Amino acid sequence: MGYKTIDNFNLKGKRVLLRVDINSPVFNGKVFLSNRIKVAVRTIAELKKRKVRVVVIAHQGRPGDSDFTSLKQHANLISKFTKIKFVNDIMGEKAISEIKKLKNGEAILLENVRFLKEEFEPSKNKLVARFSKLFDFYINDAFSVCHRDQTSVTRFPKFIKALAGPNLIKEVEALKKIRIKRALFILGGSKAEENILLMEGKVLTCGIFGQLCHIAKGFNFGSQNKFLKTKFSILPELKKKIDEIGKNIKMPLDFALKIKGMRVEIPLEKFPSNYEIYDVGERTVKIYEKEIKQAKFILMKGTAGYAEEKIFQKGTRKILKAIANSGAFSILAGGHLSEALSKLGISESKFNYVSLSGGALVAYLSGKKLPGLEALKK
Ligand code: 3PG
Repeated sequence: MGYKTIDNFNLKGKRVLLRVDINSPVFNGKVFLSNRIKVAVRTIAELKKRKVRVVVIAHQGRPGDSDFTSLKQHANLISKFTKIKFVNDIMGEKAISEIKKLKNGEAILLENVRFLKEEFEPSKNKLVARFSKLFDFYINDAFSVCHRDQTSVTRFPKFIKALAGPNLIKEVEALKKIRIKRALFILGGSKAEENILLMEGKVLTCGIFGQLCHIAKGFNFGSQNKFLKTKFSILPELKKKIDEIGKNIKMPLDFALKIKGMRVEIPLEKFPSNYEIYDVGERTVKIYEKEIKQAKFILMKGTAGYAEEKIFQKGTRKILKAIANSGAFSILAGGHLSEALSKLGISESKFNYVSLSGGALVAYLSGKKLPGLEALKK
C-alpha cells in the first residue's frame, strides 16, 4: 500500500501518538460502546502488548452538535477491555506531564481533540509544535477521518515518523477491491453533504436525509427538530442535485411520527404535522424493497430512521433485510448503520462489506484523494 506499518519497526519503549476514531452514538449524554471503540481497543491492546507507551488522540462529535462531548466515558468503555487512563487535557501542562510519565505498555486517552481550535487550523500550530518534540511515532488508525484535513489527521506525519494502523490498512485493502458500477444508493442518516456526492445512478432516500430532500423541493413537514434545521444551508445544492437526477431519485412517501410515545405512520399528503418524524413508513419500504430486488450493486449509507428506539427500527430493519436477501453486491457505510446492525441482530456476514466509515468511504469511492492517506504516504 506504500505505507509503513507497526510491523516495520520495533516499537518497544517508544512514545507513540495513536489517532483512532471512537466517534460513537451518544444519547441523553450517554456514550454507547460502538464498533469503532471495539476496533480501537484491538490496536491499543496490541501496542500495549508490544510494550509501547501509547497516547491516544481522538474526537467525538462536532462543535455545536449534541454529541460533541468529552472522551471520559470512552476511556471507561475502552478500560472494560484494556486499561487506559483518561487525561482531561490535550496539550496543556497536565497532558504533557502525563505523556512524559508514561511507562512501557501503558496507555492514556487525551480529551476530545476537537475541543481545541488548533485541530481545525492544520497549519503549523501549538499542538503540532508541542507534540512533534514528544513522540517517536505517529500512527493513524482512523480511516474514517482521513477525508478531513485536520491537525490530528494530516499534520503530524510532517514532523513525526508516521505509520498506518491495522484498522486503517484493513479498511483501505477492502475498499480497493470495490468498483462502483450501476449502483443503487440508499442514502439515509443526516450527513447530507456526504450523501450528495453519491447522488448518481439510482437513489433511494431515507432518514433525516429523506426529509431534507423533500424540504429542498419546498415541502413543509410542520414541526421540525432543531437538528434538522442546522442542515438547511445545504438545501439549494440539494435541490439542484435532485432536479439533475430527476426520475432516478425516490423520496419517502410516508413517515412514522412519535405521538405520545407511539409509532404512528402518515402519508406525505397528511403533512404538515405537529409531531416529529422518526422513521420512514411501510409504503415507502415496500417501494424500496422492489428496487432493492432488482439491483446488482447496493451501497447503503446511514439509517432509515431513529434506530436507537425499538419502535423506529422498522424501516432500517426491513431495508437491511431486503438488501441481505437480494443477492446484490452490498456495502454498508457509516458508524451509525454498523451500530444499527448489531442492535437489530442482523449478521455482518450477510453483506459483502460493512464499513465503519461514512464520509471517508464516500470520498474514497468517488475517487477523491484523502488528505489523511496522502499525509501517510509522504
Ligand atoms: C464519522 O463519524 O464519519 C467520523 O468520525 C468523522 O466525523 P466528522 O464527519 O464529524 O468529521
